[in-house]
Parts: sequence; structure tokens; C-alpha cells
Amino acid sequence: MKTVIEKVIEDQKICNQDKIDTAGKIIQEGGLVAFPTETVYGLGADALNPKASRKIYEAKGRPSDNPLIIHIADMKALDKIAVHISEKAVKLAEHFWPGPLTMIFEKSEAVPLETTGGLQTVAVRMPSHPAALALIQAAGGYIAAPSANTSGRPSPTLAEHVAEDMDGRIPMILDGGAVGIGIESTIVDFSEETPMILRPGYITPEMIEKIIGQIKIDPGIIKENCGIHPKAPGMKYRHYAPRAELVLVSGAQEKVKQKINDLAREAELSGKTAGVIGTDESCRYYRCGIVKSIGTRNDEDTIARNLYGILREFDQQNVDIIYSESFETSGIGQAIMNRLLKAAGQKMIEV
Ligand code: TXA
Ligand code: MG
Repeated sequence: MKTVIEKVIEDQKICNQDKIDTAGKIIQEGGLVAFPTETVYGLGADALNPKASRKIYEAKGRPSDNPLIIHIADMKALDKIAVHISEKAVKLAEHFWPGPLTMIFEKSEAVPLETTGGLQTVAVRMPSHPAALALIQAAGGYIAAPSANTSGRPSPTLAEHVAEDMDGRIPMILDGGAVGIGIESTIVDFSEETPMILRPGYITPEMIEKIIGQIKIDPGIIKENCGIHPKAPGMKYRHYAPRAELVLVSGAQEKVKQKINDLAREAELSGKTAGVIGTDESCRYYRCGIVKSIGTRNDEDTIARNLYGILREFDQQNVDIIYSESFETSGIGQAIMNRLLKAAGQKMIEV
């Protein structure tokens, strides 16, 4: 299959509605289209068509028990796919939709089990990216979309990343340039009594608690509990991972830099190609290996935005082992560390 890449965004506005209509038609006919969202690129199919959902699992090589998120473009669409929607959930939707928040509800009859990985619950998100919203409308209102990477690899934050993984497997990629946030949405489960965060993201627990009061956090996603299985099926796999081995180093800044220098030197002496992930503030201290800045500690959003791209760049440079600083900060730092730890298979050295 030939994959075409179509540019649809210029100056943050849609510049090519025709291509979005063509993409919408492909989805309505049961095909797959990759598209930009504000978090990461998604791989979309008609969420209400079981055969179309199955194609997503094939294209990604994704385990069939790992459910998909349904993307909608307006609140009316929610009633068709979810039941027992609580007042708290509606409040969160009012505050954070369209945006990087996914909520899990009991599913309605309209949603096939192929889309929910066999579960009786359904994950729903209203993205804010103009191309995503336009595509959802053009496709009939319900797009099932995981991140558009091969299963296990870092999520795509550029159309080129999607092409690396999906070229020849899907007919079309809509190109909206670099995404704004760079890590996936926050997932909140409303299918049980007390709402629970199943995946940290740009929207933090503090932001959610301000609107609806106390929530729980899945113990399986907290760093210290890496023995406990997370509730979201997708969070249990090694994930977001580069081909190279990734090791995180955490502790006081000066000690971390020293340790990473030592480790990178040892790796190079043993004949390996080492990569180092530092920041704009720290990069000049590193002496060995291929050194890259992930962003600035003065603005953590830059770190989230560059995270997956940097892991893919190291792969392209055939690095064997990557040493990375840690980012244990409040705010989006929790989501950044969650993804880095998963990409590292939980390997972290404390100094
Ligand atoms: O930002 C995002 O959420 C991106 C963009 C494309 O919207 N999508 C995304 O999808 O990250 P994906 O498939 O890569 O991650 C979805 C996560 C998985 O961990 C999956 O197990 C979990 O959501 N999930 C989906 N439906 C669920 C359900 N009914 N119950 C529990 N977890 C669910
Ligand atoms: Mg994913």
C-alpha cells in the first residue's frame, strides 16, 4: 500500500479541507488515517466499525486486549457511546474539553468490543487540535485512535515519525507539523465510585481536584510501586521505548552530571556508542557520548515536547545505551517521569 502524506495545517489553521474530507471518507469506508492531535499523532479508524478497529491492531502490532480511545468533536456524541455519565465527569469535560483529557465510562451498545479490547468500558477524548476536530466531523463523529507508532515504540510527535513506523501500512497521513504538548492525554477512570487517574499527562491531579475534589491515583503508576499492575491495559507493557537501552539517573544535579559522565565514559571504553540526555542548562558539562538537550528546566513543557523525538533521534544514530537526567518535578514532571521510566523498563540509578 502506498502511503501519502498531506499537509493540512499552516499558521495553526486548516489549509486543506479537501484532504481532510478525503481522509474522512477513507475512515467512513473502514480504512485508517493518521492525524495530528495536540498531544501526539493518532492512528484513526471508525470507532463504531469492528473491522476498522481490528485494522488498527494489525497496523500497530498492538496486543488485542489493549483498548482504544474514541475521539469525539462535540458533547452530543458522548451520549451515544457512554452511559452513566456522572456530574463530576461533565464538570471536567466543561473545563478541559476540547483538550488533553481522556475519561473512561461504562460503554453503550453502540461501541463494539473490538474497539474496547473486550472491556465493558470505553475511553473518550475530545481533542483540541483543529485538524483532529475537522477529521472527526468529516469521518462521521467517532474516531478510535491510539498513538500512531508501532506498538512499544515512542509516540509520534511529527508526521515524519508516523511515516517511520506506518509507511506502506496505511493509505494516508495528515501532516500538521510538530504537536504542541508531546505526551499523551491524562486518563481519568469514571467507571468506579471515586474517579481515578490511570495515566498522568498534561492535566495534573491538582488541576482536576480543583474542579471535582478528591480523586485517586492508580497505585500501579506510582514510581515506588513498580511491582503493582496498572489498571489501564496499555500501561503494563514496556512502552515508549527506543531500541537502545535507556537508564535514568536521579539525585542532586551535580552528582547526576558526574555519574552520567562516568557511565558514558565507561560505555564508550567498552566499545558502545553512548547517548546522553541533558538540558539546556547542563549539556555543556558532559564530556562523552552523543549529548542532546531535551529542553530547559525553566519550562518543563519544552521537555515534554521533545521527549519522544529525542528517543527516536538516538535510534537513528544507532546509539547502544542512553543515560538520561531525571525530572522529578510537580506539574507535568510526573507525566514526563512516568513515560521515561516506562521507556527505561524502570531502570533508574539513584546517586
Ligand atoms: O493523547 C492521547 O491520548 C493519544 C492521542 C492520539 O489522542 N492517544 C493515546 O492512545 O495515547 P493509546 O492507545 O496510545 O493509549 C490509550 C491508553 C492505553 O494505555 C489503554 O490501555 C488505555 O488508554 N485505555 C483505553 N481504554 C481503556 C479502558 N476502557 N479502560 C482502561 N484503560 C483504557
Ligand atoms: Mg500509545
